[in-house]
Amino acid sequence: MNQPIGVIDSGVGGLTVVQELMRQLPNEQLIYVGDTLRCPYGPRSKSEVKRFTWEMVDFLLEKKIKMLVIACNTATAFTLSELQETLDIPIIGVIQPGARAAIKVTDNNHIGVIGTEGTIKSDAYPQALKSINPNLDIETLACPSFVPMVEEGIVDGEKAQREVEHSLQPLKKNKKMDSLILGCTHYPLLKETIQHVMGSHVTLLSSSEETARETSTILDVHQLLANSNSQPKHQFYTTGEATIFTTLVNRIFATTIGNLNHVTIQTATITHS
Ligand code: DGL
Repeated sequence: MNQPIGVIDSGVGGLTVVQELMRQLPNEQLIYVGDTLRCPYGPRSKSEVKRFTWEMVDFLLEKKIKMLVIACNTATAFTLSELQETLDIPIIGVIQPGARAAIKVTDNNHIGVIGTEGTIKSDAYPQALKSINPNLDIETLACPSFVPMVEEGIVDGEKAQREVEHSLQPLKKNKKMDSLILGCTHYPLLKETIQHVMGSHVTLLSSSEETARETSTILDVHQLLANSNSQPKHQFYTTGEATIFTTLVNRIFATTIGNLNHVTIQTATITHS
């Protein structure tokens, strides 16, 4: 079925999931919305994140998406179940896939999780991890400075190194932790710096691969996969400044993303609270 898959995030972070979706599902058309104008979501209230997420979803529903990938941990933590209960298309978030990826990798069941303030406060990761294995030892940490840094295009170099080093100090004290979940889709863009700070004995995990795998399975089960001869034209929307978004995307991904349009998600489109 050649309808598009919708992918949402507060900014450029969800593009780390998009990259993996494109790799694993090359026939699928993607429509991405990054709410750059209102990024970061991390420090915002649950009701605000819910409202913004619904606005993006309503925008995508008008584009007749066949499935939704919430490529934002904060939005997943606050809205996944509500969206799943309300809409009749398949919807997945990034938290369960991230938790599964970590459980596959840990040797000693000591797992760290870093994320936005919203994601960490929601306790969604410990709940997802413990629902799979109740005997895990989990340490979580909010890193509020990472998302604004990535949205500014700072992903390596001295400033990134200093900030990451400073933020991760509390976790570095945990000598048992052997795996660390990057519980925010912006963080894989800082992966090299985080790995350097944490040391090679800690395996870093992001949810993108597992999320793309799950998307593929869901499409298959629901018989929604695109034709193998389709040539998808992806579309990217930002609520912010299109030129800034494009420059940032090109800098971060070293690729050119076509069809970038500016979109204003208007308050008038809100139909849910
Ligand atoms: N990429 C979003 C996430 O995974 C970033 C949240 C934010 O905007 O603070 O949580």
